[in-house]
Parts: sequence; structure tokens; C-alpha cells
Amino acid sequence: MTRAQQWIVLKFGGTSVSRRHRWDTIGKLAVQRAQSQGEGGRVLIVVSALSGVTNELQAIAAGDAVETRIEQLEQRHREFGAELGLDVDTVLTERLASLRALASDPRRASLALDWQAEVLAQGELLSSTLGAAYLRSQGVDIGWCDARNWLTALQLPNQSAWSSRLSVNCQAVGKPEFRESFAQQPTSILITQGFIAAHPEGGTAILGRGGSDTSAAYFGALLQAQAVEIWTDVPGMFTANPREVPDARILSRLRYGEAQEIATTGAKVLHPRSIAPCRDAGVPIRILDTENPDLPGTRIDAQADPVQGVKAISARKGIVLVSMESIGMWQQVGFLADIFAIFRQHGLSIDLIGSSETNVTVSLDPSDNLMNSDVLSKLSADLSKVCIVKVIAPCAAVTLVGRGMRSLLHKLSDIWATFGKERVHLISQSSNDLNLTFVIDEEDVEGLIPAIHASLIKSGAMPVLNRQAFGPSWRELKEGRVEPHPRWWEQQVEQLLQIAAEGTPAYVYDVATVRARARNLAEIASVDARYFAIKANPHPQLLNALVEEGFGLECVSLAELRHVRQHVPQLTPQQILFTPSFAPRSEYIEALAQGVTVTIDSLEILERWPDVFRGQSVWLRVDLGHGEGHHDKVKTGGAEAKFGLPLAKFEAFLQLARRHQVTVTGLHAHLGSGIDNPDHWRQVFASLAGLAELSGSISTIDIGGGMSIPYTPDGKPFDLQAYAHGLSEIRRNYPGLRVAIEPGRYLVAESGVLLTQVTQIIEKDGVLRIGANAGMNALLRPSLYDAYHGIFNLSRLHDTQLQLTDIVGPICESGDVLGHDRLMPAATSEGDVLLIADTGAYGMVMANHYNLRDLPRELCIETK
Ligand code: LLP
Repeated sequence: MTRAQQWIVLKFGGTSVSRRHRWDTIGKLAVQRAQSQGEGGRVLIVVSALSGVTNELQAIAAGDAVETRIEQLEQRHREFGAELGLDVDTVLTERLASLRALASDPRRASLALDWQAEVLAQGELLSSTLGAAYLRSQGVDIGWCDARNWLTALQLPNQSAWSSRLSVNCQAVGKPEFRESFAQQPTSILITQGFIAAHPEGGTAILGRGGSDTSAAYFGALLQAQAVEIWTDVPGMFTANPREVPDARILSRLRYGEAQEIATTGAKVLHPRSIAPCRDAGVPIRILDTENPDLPGTRIDAQADPVQGVKAISARKGIVLVSMESIGMWQQVGFLADIFAIFRQHGLSIDLIGSSETNVTVSLDPSDNLMNSDVLSKLSADLSKVCIVKVIAPCAAVTLVGRGMRSLLHKLSDIWATFGKERVHLISQSSNDLNLTFVIDEEDVEGLIPAIHASLIKSGAMPVLNRQAFGPSWRELKEGRVEPHPRWWEQQVEQLLQIAAEGTPAYVYDVATVRARARNLAEIASVDARYFAIKANPHPQLLNALVEEGFGLECVSLAELRHVRQHVPQLTPQQILFTPSFAPRSEYIEALAQGVTVTIDSLEILERWPDVFRGQSVWLRVDLGHGEGHHDKVKTGGAEAKFGLPLAKFEAFLQLARRHQVTVTGLHAHLGSGIDNPDHWRQVFASLAGLAELSGSISTIDIGGGMSIPYTPDGKPFDLQAYAHGLSEIRRNYPGLRVAIEPGRYLVAESGVLLTQVTQIIEKDGVLRIGANAGMNALLRPSLYDAYHGIFNLSRLHDTQLQLTDIVGPICESGDVLGHDRLMPAATSEGDVLLIADTGAYGMVMANHYNLRDLPRELCIETK
């Protein structure tokens, strides 16, 4: 019978045990965990003291206002007992008597360490007693046990008297009999205390700060549990402190070693000491959110995929650096051993080390020992007998944790530049290749972490698109479905549901939104000619609306050209641009015959086909040597891109053009798509204008399209004002040049939504997937560019019960995923209408018949 027992250890911290509704959650989770393991499923709950109580007990242990504080603590627990609906006099009599007895204990006079331990233990004893009584009153069959009957402190060498009583470790390996005897407990759910253990010489020992996590880990290891679940008030470990960096992502899966580094270097959710016991026993740790128990949180084990890259960044303050100048002693055998022995004598453990020919600098973490005594001055006194000592404090240690840090250095150039502005006292790269730490003055750390986090994502050093390792951002989780900018479709839910009822998948475009964007652009005074890049969306109604708003059209193929002539017959050839790429000669011939403005982008075109262009006026597309854009695949400048004449051939091109009587009247550059930096076009304009002066014949500068739109919940609308301002600044210097633009996405992306319906909902290996009847066949962008589109359940838009899901399509490819880790209504069911937002650009035009699925329908509505 004992062998069949499967344990799960659940740990709840102070905030989780201080409110009645949280205890209801604890009860529910415990019962559910016990049942989910079938027969033999058993659960051990480990709890902290009510929040704030341990601080009070510490003050009592220091002899400060003992009687008053004890009285207040008694009051607090009586009140909470009453809130829990308990008969406090029965439930707490014994506990409160022992709390009061500590005031009259003879050991109090000397603040004896064993008395202090007794004092500190009261918080957990009280909270676990109250919790057990409450859960019993709610019908949960639960047993209470005293952790001191099961965990015993280890005595370690070099431990001070203080730490061997008040900051102990326990034995968690090599005790196979533990599981056997613990299993004799009569109920399948048990509750015990974190933070406390038995002292081998009698009485209580304390595990120190973070002790409840460590208790849970010891119990988990000793019971060979299925998992140790740390329940807290954030939904997992994050890539940075989410309160400081709202863009921080959840770390879904970590290896023990990585979690250890992250916990040690900053993250507060898990105490670093709790990892080793679980690692040694092979017990997975999960970090979960008591308020949102369905979120998957962070799982730590030995099996996680070893994803290369930076996983987290943190800053620890209160670091003390001890710099030791040796002057001549460095070369002596045993010098380092001597100085390290002095640290040992003072019970200080060294964290980082940097050394040079004449100096050794080490860092000390802000440990209890360092804060609670004058150990630092004693250490300095002893060290100064062998070297010149300088203490540098307060410092902050900024640490990047990840796998394969050494091979990432080339991606960290922005970070080196950031640190270049600060005074870096010490850089340390760990020998396990898991961390890189910079120690700077504490005052310099303000604002640094969000900036570094952003540049780690931008440079690709933190591969947040790897969904095995990284989950959603704090902001996404917090904001849930709340979008920062109003969307036209939020006012049209009924109409859209009606359209969906007539058949899905369907693209629906709001013409009013397109007109509104067109008018925004029309207001920019320094732009003379506006063209819509129809490749983004050639729907005839949209083309006509844009032409009405004063736009010309830009085409990239003969088919697009014919489409325009057919559907917008009123458009003159002068209002049409033809900007093909590697097109056959025949397309150029026909375009020229139609009289539209043709752009060519290589020397070879003129060399091979001079007769096609003789006597004609053309525009020339150049490559300014670099590309920009939301993804590498949409960067259209630089050596990797196939577009544009390289600047090195510019002179030669002009000569060749002259030789064949070809007049270059326009100069064009489009360096990529989805660019959010408005300064980009100012720079493009300035470069092109400079080149135009060399030619003598160029009168129009086409600075391309490429403006971004806010796809993600935290994305910001494109800064059109800054864009306009940059152009007008350059324009002043070139009054004779006309400026043309040719955006696609900006005009139409937000006007479009894709309506699709739920086909199936399937859970596999812990991932819940919502199937839609549209996938990469209908909308390719997520598969092709890892592009983000908001996905909403239109049938249940205002549901608040959400759960994390992947939204997938019906195509036979693993890449057929429309959205990863999205919070969708828990009630989502077959037939519900999903709306995929911002799909008006590069949506329908890139749809295909893959798997012989039908193309989506398309229709326009006009909301205003
Ligand atoms: N001009 C030229 C010469 C272009 O090649 C393009 C887009 C544009 C203008 C319009 O760029 P826009 O303003 O839309 O960024 N399928 C990708 C976008 C590819 C863009 C190709 N060229 C996507 O879905 O993100």
C-alpha cells in the first residue's frame, strides 16, 4: 500500500494564507491534486506564517516591545480565526498559550538563540493550525503534523552559533525510511509548517529567509514527490522582475541549473536554496499563481529543452565589493588561500571574483550575517594585515542568465555599449557558462534593466519566440483582452457574427478605417505624391476608396497592373507606378507601352535590354546598404536582399542610362516593411536627395512604404507626427524635389479582420489547442514571420474566465499555428466565431489553396 502512494507537495506563502478565499483555493487545489493522482494520491501542504507575522516575531526575538507585540499577534490570529468562522478559543488555546509563555521564559533575558528560534517558529505553527481547522470545517479530511518531527537541522563545519540555530540546512537525501514512516499518517491530505525544523541538540531550528520554499523542497525530496508546487502571487518565474519590466516574459520551462542561477541572482519567487534538494532527488518544481491557478506557470526539471540564449536579467542591490591590493605578495604561494581563510573565519561566503596582477576583488551578497553584525569592519581589520583593503559599497550586480553565454557575445554589442556608459567595477562570467555579471554603483542601476531587456529581445540574444522556453509577457497576462486602442470591430460585433453565420473563413474590411488612415497621410504637407502599394490588399472597393482619397497605385506585376486598369479604369497612367522585381522583359515592355512610371533596379536590366528602355524616362530603385523591418524576411536592403542597385554602381548606371538615352527622373528606396522608427524615412530622404543632386535629371524622390501598425497589445501606433517632422526638416534643404510615398500596410492592415470558426478543442501533453477553420492557408503571416495578430472569441468577447491556449488551423503542418499562449475564454466551444485582428494587409493576398482548402470569402463594410 505504501508503495502506491504518490505525493505532491504544495507550498503557500504568507499572502496566500492570510485571506479566507485563498484558503478555499488551497482546499480545492489539495483535493484536486490528491484525486488527480488516483488511488494513493497524497498531498502535503506546507505553509508560511500570515503575512507580516515573521517580521513581528523577529522584533520579539530581538527583545523589542515583547509583551505588546505578543498581544497584537494574539489579536491578529484571533481576528483571522473569526474571519474563518472558527471557534478560536478551542482551536488556538494551546498555541496562544505557548506564544505567551515565551515572554516569561528565563532564556528571554539573554536572547538565547534557542529561545529566538522558538519565537520565530510561532507564526507557521499558528497559521497551519488555523488552516487545518478551517479546511476541516469545510469538509476536507486533513491531518496536521509538526515539521519538527520530520526535518532535522544538519550541523555544518564553519557555521557560526547564530547560523547553526537560525539559518540551518536539513538532510534531504539518503533517508529512504522517511517516506515509509511519513506514509503512516492517517489522512491523504496533510498540512505542515515551512521555515522550521528540529535542532539535533533539542528544540527548534530555523531555516532562514525563504525557508518555506526550502521546507517544501526537503519534504518533496524526502517523499520522492511527483512535484513540488510553489504557489505564489505571480504566475511564474519571469525574464526580469515584471513590476519593473512589464515586457518580461514568463519562463515556461527551465532546467534546475538555470533556475538556480535566476533565483540566486534576483528572482524573488523561489528561494535558491530550495532547488538543490529537488534536483538531487529528481523532483520537478512548479511555480504557480494562487489567484490564477489555471495558468501553466514555470516548470523546472532536468528534461527541459536546452534552449540557447539569455533567459533572464536581474539586478541585486546592496552588494559589497572588497578590493584587495596585494603589492608584491600576489606571487607568493598560498596568498589567496590566506585571504580566503579570513573570509571563512568571519562566516562570509564569496560570490564573484575578479583578479589582476596586483589586485583581487570579490563580491559579497547581502546575507543575514553581513546585515546583522559588524562583520565587515572586523573582516577589513584582519585583511589589512596581509593587503591593502578597500570596501566599495553599495553596489549593484546586473546579471544575465542563460545557456551558452559565451557563444552569444556577438549579440550583446548594445549591452556592452550600455555598460560602457557606467562605471563597471567587476565583470564575471561563470565557468558553467550560465551567467554574465556586471557590478556597478548602485545609483547607476536605475532604469537600466528595462533598457537591457528590450535590447536583448531586439538583438535576438533572448529568443522569446521560442515558445517551449518563453510564455506570454506580464503585460499580456495583466491586460488580458483589454486592447489599448479602440478598434472599429468592437462596435460591430453583431454584424460580424451575422456575416460569420453566412460562411467562414471570411475577411471583412472596414472602408472607413482605410479612408481615415489615407486622410492622416494626406495631411503631411511635405509629401507631394501618395501611392498605395496594392500588394498589401488589391480589393477593388479599397482601391477605389483610396483613389477617391487622392492616392495613386503602386503595382509590382503585370497582373496587378491589369487588375488596376480593370477595376479602377478612371485612374490615369501617370497615377500608376510599376516597381517589379526580377520580372520578365515582356512585363516592362507592356508597362512602358501603357505609359505608367516604370522603376528599374539593376545595371544588368539596362545592359541586356537597352532597346526596351531607349528614349524612355524611368525611376531607379537603389539599395542604401541596410534593411529594416519587423522580420528578416521583409528587409529589402543590404547584401542579403535581392532588391535595388547597390550604391557602388550608381555612377556606372547613370553613365549607361545616358549612353542609351534613358532619362532617370525618380529615385526610389524601400528598405523594408513594418518599421516603427519614424526617423528611418528622414534618413532615407536625406540619402536619396544627396544622390539625386549628382544626376541632374532626378526630380522625384520615392521614400517607399514600410510604416508599422500596432499588432501586439502593447504595440504603439506609428508616430506619424515624428515621421512628418523628419521629412519637412530635410525638405527645407531640397525645395526643388518632389517627395513620393508608397505605403501598403499602414493604410489597410487595421481595416481588416479574418472571421473563422472553432472546429475542435483538444488537450495534448498539457497544451490546450483551439482549432479554427482557417490556418496558414488563410493567413500565412504567423507561420511565415512569427507575426502576432490579436485573436478574440467574438461569441464570448466579454468572458472573464480565461485560459491559455494555442490557436491552430486545419493544415497538415506543425507550423500551422495562428497564435501561441493566448488567453481565450475557458468556455470556448465548437462553432464559436474567432476574430483575427489587423489582417487587412498581406492577409487574403497571401492566402492559398494548400491542402486544397477553399480561399476565404472577402467583403467590405462601411462603418461610418
Ligand atoms: N514599396 C515596395 C517597393 C514594396 O516592396 C513594399 C512592400 C511596399 C512599398 C509597401 O510596404 P508596406 O508599407 O506595406 O510595409 N508580406 C509581408 C510584407 C512584405 C512587403 C513587401 N513589400 C508582411 O506580411 O509583413
